[in-house]
Amino acid sequence: MKMTAFIATANPGFAPYAMEELRRRFPGIALSGLAPGETFRLQHDDYSDEEWIAALRRDEPIFLRHVFPVTEEIAMPASPEETAAALARFAASRSADAKGSAVAVQVRKSQDSPFPFSSAEARDLITPILREAGAETVARDARWILSVYAVKKAIYFGWSAPRDNLSDWPGGAVRFRREEGLISRAAFKLLEAETTFDLPLARFSSALDLGAAPGGWTSVLLERGLRVTAVDPAEMHPSLSGHPMLRHLRQNASELSFRPGSFDLLVCDMSWDPHHTCKIVTQLAPALTAGASGLITLKLMYRKPLQTIADLLAAYGESFEIRRVKQLFHNRDEVTIWVRRL
Ligand SMILES: C[S@@+](CC[C@H](N)C(=O)[O-])C[C@H]1O[C@@H](n2cnc3c(N)ncnc32)[C@H](O)[C@@H]1O
Repeated sequence: MKMTAFIATANPGFAPYAMEELRRRFPGIALSGLAPGETFRLQHDDYSDEEWIAALRRDEPIFLRHVFPVTEEIAMPASPEETAAALARFAASRSADAKGSAVAVQVRKSQDSPFPFSSAEARDLITPILREAGAETVARDARWILSVYAVKKAIYFGWSAPRDNLSDWPGGAVRFRREEGLISRAAFKLLEAETTFDLPLARFSSALDLGAAPGGWTSVLLERGLRVTAVDPAEMHPSLSGHPMLRHLRQNASELSFRPGSFDLLVCDMSWDPHHTCKIVTQLAPALTAGASGLITLKLMYRKPLQTIADLLAAYGESFEIRRVKQLFHNRDEVTIWVRRL
């Protein structure tokens, strides 16, 4: 059977790179923009849905955050009443699958869409229909996701298993509760890397945090029970001072050396020229145990991000095995890599 169309989402401004990655990976793929820089539609004549999703999941494109299959597509109805009826009709059409299952409803729209409801209002129109069909409606840990994406002239409806969307958050927009006492928003990057790469940080015991101030990442590592050596000429947040598991070295990371095998985790969020960062991290590689992990943000400061990333991966590849490369939702002009010490 021929592949259905999919709606794909990337971080704002990065859809062209997601499209480029897909063109290289799947020659012949048809791509068309929906919300500029962010959302697009794709289709490929040579694949079934299952084949394409399997290929995608085997090696996720760096800049592709989320996809969902277009199970049904309709022209934008003329009135709110007709739109509400269309939402209800689609939900009712999934009754057989929904029965006895946990279903999440995710509604998004492009900026230029005349879709007359907020996400919450649209959800409120859909959930009673699903409940009537015997479903439990949930926000997380669903068996099925009902997706709605409204653009200027059309509404796309999707019905899929969460793992086939790459992310089970609406459009891949990961939300963490803003925990009390969070030192910096940068902490979200580490929390997202932990879940996206399925790499529980509590598994490690001793971390080297390069570019640690003010201490968002450090505080996450301390919370997970790790001993942390934080390196940064800048000051750490006062709430961390005197922590028994923390040592702060007020130094430039390029001036350091440690005994071999001192750390089983290196994290680095220096927000600096990524080639310099790579040099520093590589110099410090002997301080890591064999098999130690590294989580590093790569700043994309040049015009050709895919080429920059390829060059950096080749350089990191001399001392590390590259495990994953992903632009996380909380990455702005950067991507995050997970490497393992060879
Ligand atoms: C984006 S901030 C890090 C935020 C931190 N991850 C957090 O969660 O709070 C970047 C930090 O890298 C530090 N930095 C930049 N170059 C450095 C170097 N060569 N050695 C050590 N720290 C460096 C800066 O002083 C700055 O505090």
